[in-house]
Amino acid sequence: MKKPVVFLTRRLPTAAMEMLAAACTITLWDDEVRPCPREALLNGVAEAEGLLSLLTDRVDEELLAAGPHLRIVANMAVGYDNIDLAACRRRGVTVSNTPGVLTETTADLAWALMLAAARRIVEGQKLIEAGGWGPWYPMQMVGVDIYGSRLGVVGAGRIGQAVLRRAQGFGMALSYHNRTPNSVVEATTGATYLALDELLSSSDVVVVTVPLSDETRGMFGAREFALMKPTAIFVNVARGPIVREAELVAALQAGRPQAAGIDVFEREPIGPDHPLLRLPNCVAVPHIGSATVGTRTRMATLAAENLVAVLTGKAAPSLLNL
Ligand code: NAP
Ligand code: GLV
Repeated sequence: MKKPVVFLTRRLPTAAMEMLAAACTITLWDDEVRPCPREALLNGVAEAEGLLSLLTDRVDEELLAAGPHLRIVANMAVGYDNIDLAACRRRGVTVSNTPGVLTETTADLAWALMLAAARRIVEGQKLIEAGGWGPWYPMQMVGVDIYGSRLGVVGAGRIGQAVLRRAQGFGMALSYHNRTPNSVVEATTGATYLALDELLSSSDVVVVTVPLSDETRGMFGAREFALMKPTAIFVNVARGPIVREAELVAALQAGRPQAAGIDVFEREPIGPDHPLLRLPNCVAVPHIGSATVGTRTRMATLAAENLVAVLTGKAAPSLLNL
């Protein structure tokens, strides 16, 4: 039987490539690093029944029109703000994502950023590298305590709850904010539901783990930062456009919040001249929330499983728009 043609916007780890090769005819943008140019993507989907996309690939009306045979778009990410779900639904194209497999890895990074920002880890290393480490003195490089403080998670879904669970060993008081209070979150994490403003004004650490949507775009700006404690630590591992970045820069310059840990940016990638990088109280990393060998391999494999399942008439593990 003729194998269905699929287009991959990047070469994937071997396990995923082998799974796809067994069931499909693979066409791809054959590069692991450089992004697939738009033109190559539009040409690539012309004959394809399946597309394996990354979070940087825009899947919209134009792309769907260029790929009239598409039956599935399998995104290698849990976030799917790069995909016009309604347009896919209108054309009968199934969309899948990779939930769950990256939850713990991303929660680990949120904690890494929280601790690094609170304890001035990057600033400390830069001080040494610049030859600025002089004698020990009582208030040298003092930060804020995480142990015993109050953690507020905005978006207590899979990743948010994993962030909350990790707080048990740190003796923290826990709050969360979702659109709707969730008794399961409360029972499993011990966190208390708070309205957003109340969470912002009472938390020592605010971690953002909401998806990017019309509702959450620009959710954090000058007003929200002004509500936070002057000693607060702000962490964003969700999506850049949830935060009004220029207003975060101004807030950090003014020292409220005291420090931030940022994995995601309004426009990625950022360059070395980005204003957040000039602030000693901001720890910035290049969208590495899910970046461990095991997790990225599991994400690629799950995306491949979804693609193969839909194209071979089987039940797919994680569909978004049935
Ligand atoms: P999830 O399980 O769907 O959790 C999302 C949570 O956000 C839910 O609890 C949801 O609760 C809440 N929420 C949604 N809209 C909201 C709003 N307008 N106001 C307040 N709360 C809202 O998703 P997840 O798997 O935890 O992933 C979350 C996001 O993290 C992804 O969408 C992705 O953008 C990002 N992410 C980033 C990385 C990285 O590398 N940095 C890695 C993985 C994921 P309600 O529906 O009850 O409001
Ligand atoms: C990464 O950012 C994801 O959404 O999986």
